[in-house]
Amino acid sequence: MNDATESEVPAAAMRNSLWRKLFAVHPVVAPERAGAERLRQTLSVWALMAIGIGATIGTGIFVLTGTVAANQSGPAVTLSLLIAAFGSGLAALCYAEFAAFLPVPGSAYSYTYATLGEVVAWFIGWNLMLEYAISASAVAVSWSAYVVNLLTEVHIHLPGMWINAPFAQSASGHLVATGAIVNVPAVLIVLGMSVLLYVGIQETAKATNFMVALKVTIIIIFVIAGLKFIDPANWHPYIPANTGTFGHFGWTGVLQGAGIIFFSYVGFDTASTTALEARNPQRDLPMGIIGTLVISTVLYVAMAAAITGMVPFFKLNVDAPVAVALDAHPALSWLGMFVKIGAIAGMTSVILTSLLGQPRILLAMADDGLLPPLMSRCHPRFKTPHVATAITGIGAAVIAGVFPLDVLADLISIGILLAFAVVCIGVLVMRYTRPEAHRPFRVPWAWLLCPLGALVCLGMTYFLSDATWIRLVVWTAIGGAIYAFYGFHHSKQRSSA
Ligand code: ALA
Repeated sequence: MNDATESEVPAAAMRNSLWRKLFAVHPVVAPERAGAERLRQTLSVWALMAIGIGATIGTGIFVLTGTVAANQSGPAVTLSLLIAAFGSGLAALCYAEFAAFLPVPGSAYSYTYATLGEVVAWFIGWNLMLEYAISASAVAVSWSAYVVNLLTEVHIHLPGMWINAPFAQSASGHLVATGAIVNVPAVLIVLGMSVLLYVGIQETAKATNFMVALKVTIIIIFVIAGLKFIDPANWHPYIPANTGTFGHFGWTGVLQGAGIIFFSYVGFDTASTTALEARNPQRDLPMGIIGTLVISTVLYVAMAAAITGMVPFFKLNVDAPVAVALDAHPALSWLGMFVKIGAIAGMTSVILTSLLGQPRILLAMADDGLLPPLMSRCHPRFKTPHVATAITGIGAAVIAGVFPLDVLADLISIGILLAFAVVCIGVLVMRYTRPEAHRPFRVPWAWLLCPLGALVCLGMTYFLSDATWIRLVVWTAIGGAIYAFYGFHHSKQRSSA
């Protein structure tokens, strides 16, 4: 053997070993409930569904429906909603199979660790932070706008520099200074919800149930009251002709609208993060996840059809399209205040439940050694992951105070669409690596629906802007650096291998 060959052997061995480390797969022991005694198992199927709906219905339907109708889809915003629901539905089936099979709080992070290996799992765990912590920040920004608007109606005026973000996005996608200092209401709502989460899962579930009941009731009342005022002429043409610009009406508009309105479905999988707190996760989690998506889709399509039927779509490019629909019909003015309260309740529950999911994912990552052990500590009396809850709350509050909604919303959508695609692929991988395992819920025609789900989710990312892709790359690079300097060296999976 000559010198060159001798030096190549260790290099090849090192490459192989690095590859093995990066793609080490977490062993699956189903049902894996290790560590459940740290938390309280109180959540029924209804509580799980309330958490899902609580996390899902908020800014998307109360804000984005109008802007997407006015700028991308016209009355076919209902079709955009259905397309986004189709992609989310396929992902929901995959989530349901995993959640029943692997009832662990890490959700997509844990599913990926068990199928595609550590480095992909880290990437998904990092992206889930967009779905939970950053999504709470984004919704807190629109919560702040609705609350400020409500306060103005009762003649309480807050100074602009304390109710706006110090940065805004310019037409070219750059961040520019606004002159404001910090969005105080957005910071306060995030901190307030974090305190509730710190204190207990039961208190959180009760608050969520109340807010979910309120927002669902108000949406139903709005749709029923609005029926009489729908003018079918407003639905014609259903898909307005494309203006010559990609994504501005026509079919490209409907598809771009689907990519943007996808934000409305973000959160339907939140129940999966409470797997250790569910009473009967194998039976209830699939019902909770799929039930959430079905109920949200029905309410969204009904509400979008009502709004676009009550006013011409081009009048809806505003922050509060529901209010515009009501203002157009003075006989409905009595509903205005209720709808604003419903929107605020809806957004509050999204903030609360998003902040609920994040610490549980951090807990799972810390249990695996990819984050410091501090993150998995649970409060001895409250039985909540209190350290991760506090860190999440402070981080999300800072982001809510500083960034505008549009910057955050698109980054969230792209990160989650990628995570959904990986979950869909993971189900298929698991079917081949663990064909014998008992699966309480199975995706039907997995060989077709799983790749289709991945394809539809990836397809929706195609329509998001270049600036969003660049932000995703920066976000991924930050996560990659943390993994390289901490997680890679502390992984328990690796040290026990
Ligand atoms: N789906 C959530 C909302 O629309 C994030 O507010």
